[in-house]
Amino acid sequence: MTELSTEHRPAGVLVTGGAGFIGANFLLRMVPLYPNVHFVNLDALTYAGNLMNLREVQHSGNYTFVHGSITDPALVRSLFAQYHFTSVVHFAAESHVDRSIRSPLGFVQTNINGTVALLEEARAAWRSAMSSPNQVRFVHVSTDEVFGSLGHEGVFRPDTPYAPRSPYSASKAAADHFVRAYANTYGLPAVISNCSNNYGPFQFPEKLIPLTILRALNRQQVPVYGTGANIRDWLHVHDHCAALDLILHKGRIGDTYLIGGASELTNLALVRMLLTLVDEALDQPEGTSLDLITFVADRPGHDFRYAVDASRIRRELAWHPSYSIERGLRATIAWYLSNRDWLDAVADQSYRNYLNEQYSL
Ligand code: NAD
Ligand code: DAU
Repeated sequence: MTELSTEHRPAGVLVTGGAGFIGANFLLRMVPLYPNVHFVNLDALTYAGNLMNLREVQHSGNYTFVHGSITDPALVRSLFAQYHFTSVVHFAAESHVDRSIRSPLGFVQTNINGTVALLEEARAAWRSAMSSPNQVRFVHVSTDEVFGSLGHEGVFRPDTPYAPRSPYSASKAAADHFVRAYANTYGLPAVISNCSNNYGPFQFPEKLIPLTILRALNRQQVPVYGTGANIRDWLHVHDHCAALDLILHKGRIGDTYLIGGASELTNLALVRMLLTLVDEALDQPEGTSLDLITFVADRPGHDFRYAVDASRIRRELAWHPSYSIERGLRATIAWYLSNRDWLDAVADQSYRNYLNEQYSL
């Protein structure tokens, strides 16, 4: 990428939650792209953390995995002392709305307390560096769900008031507020991104797209909540990671960047498109998988629609999504079909052993 004098040039980057879906895609992009930058992946390896995601970079000289939690201040402090991070890219979170409805407390612990613990350590470690422009930077990866739910019209903008409606989005909103509070009170150089629904390789099959693909491959029912009328804006994870790369290097400190794919679909339309593309990929007669669609009880408090105005990142950082929804879904189906070992390891939970096998812990 072009090196502008005003850019932040990371030397050591602490990536939290890098064994999850987006964090892993980010590391798979960044580790080979920036060989002179050291990336340390701090991940607690919850059910959502999978080291198989990082097989391509696990032996790279500029990559280190650390098994631990952002809620452990002594560990985070020792990592700052050892690696002298100039940047944090903070992905670690509990990320699934349905789980947050069943069991909210873990979301408070990781998403709120964990974020504040991390901010505290960054503030302490960067005390003398924070006033020099571009020396250090905290990138907080957040969600469009903090803004609440839209009707058929309108979009979220950077100045849209927060109105989270699920335990997950409430916990992410609280984390965003703490990041802003640290920026305002202590001068912590922070940038926040609020992104729409991601899909692509390595997504845990509890989320709609990988769940639909997996169940279609197994000829199992595909659950659609309510009538399937709820609308999401889908973005391929590679496009999200490209945006975060730009934000890390060139994002304006103190700014909020909304990121979206401009690909709004009702859930039912999305599932139908996906199942039709699965039929095509499997050489099945068109429509074979559509009879798997099963309408089930709606999610409590189900947000109707999300959509973002991504014009700031398009204008200021020249970012734009490169995948159309159809190309992105085709690529994602192809990825799941050619990575059956990954899917099988997730299905039978053997991915949980990968840590012991690879790191002799
Ligand atoms: P994910 O659930 O796939 O991965 C989360 C990762 O965080 C896992 O590797 C998990 O082990 C790790 N983790 C959880 N608790 C931890 C802790 N206490 N300490 C260290 N690591 C911990 O999530 P994802 O979909 O990759 O989302 C990553 C981030 O992006 C989250 O902050 C999420 O809110 C945000 N986001 C996600 C989407 C999306 O569509 N998936 C969209 C916008 C924003
Ligand atoms: O908008 C960004 C958010 O997108 C992220 O912050 C979250 O981490 C991420 O999980 C995602 O949240 P959603 O709740 O929108 O994603 P999910 O894949 O769970 O659901 C997408 C839509 O599909 C939603 O309207 C609920 C519906 N759904 C979901 C599942 C799992 C179904 O109809 N059936 C299902 O089985």
